[in-house]
Amino acid sequence: MKINHLFFTHMMVKEIVKQGDTVCDMTLGNGYDMRYLLERVGPGGTLYGFDIQEEAILTCHQIGEEFPNTNIHLIHGSHERIQDINTSFSCILYNLGYLPGGNKEKITHPKTTFESLRKAIPKLRKGGAMLVTVYGGHDENCERKILIHALKKLKGIDLYHFKKEGNHPMAPSTLLIQRKDHI
Ligand SMILES: C[S@@+](CC[C@H](N)C(=O)[O-])C[C@H]1O[C@@H](n2cnc3c(N)ncnc32)[C@H](O)[C@@H]1O
Repeated sequence: MKINHLFFTHMMVKEIVKQGDTVCDMTLGNGYDMRYLLERVGPGGTLYGFDIQEEAILTCHQIGEEFPNTNIHLIHGSHERIQDINTSFSCILYNLGYLPGGNKEKITHPKTTFESLRKAIPKLRKGGAMLVTVYGGHDENCERKILIHALKKLKGIDLYHFKKEGNHPMAPSTLLIQRKDHI
C-alpha cells in the first residue's frame, strides 16, 4: 500500500464523513478529492465545490455525472463565497496551490485562503472538521507559515498539524481544524 499525503487526508475524510452528509470541496481542481467526497456522502448526500478556473469546473461537472443521485453544486468563483451558502458541513476540504497540469499562476493566496477559512469555520457542524492540505516553502512568506500564524490567533478553534517526520520544507502537510464549542 502506498501511503502518500492524499491517502492520509482521505483516511481522515473517511473518519469524518458519513453517508448522506453535506460536504464542501473548496479547491476542486482535477476533481480527485471531489470524487472521494462524493463516494463518501453517497446517494442523497450533498457536495458544494468551488474553483476559480472554468477548466476545473468543467472537469468536475463531468465527474459529477457519474453520481446522479447526489446533490452537486459547483461554483465558478473564489471560495470566500462559502459565506453565501446557508447550510452546515461535516467536512470542508482544501488542497491549496495550483492545478496540476494547469496554469501555475492561478494559485491559492494566503490572504484569500485565510478569509475563506474564517468564513467557513462557523459553517462546520458538530462533529465536523476542516482539512487543509498546504504546501511549504523555504521562506517566511510561504502559504503554510502565513496560514498557521494567522490560524493560531483565531479564537474558538482547535488546530492540528500533521506532517511527515523529517519532511522536506516544500512537501505537503495537513491542517485539521475543529470548532472548540463542538468538542
Ligand atoms: C492543488 S489544486 C486542487 C486539487 C484538487 N482538489 C484535486 O483533487 O484535483 C488547487 C486548485 O485551487 C484553485 N483555486 C485557486 N485559488 C482559488 C480560490 N480563491 N477559490 C477557489 N479555488 C481556487 C485552483 O484553480 C486549483 O484548481
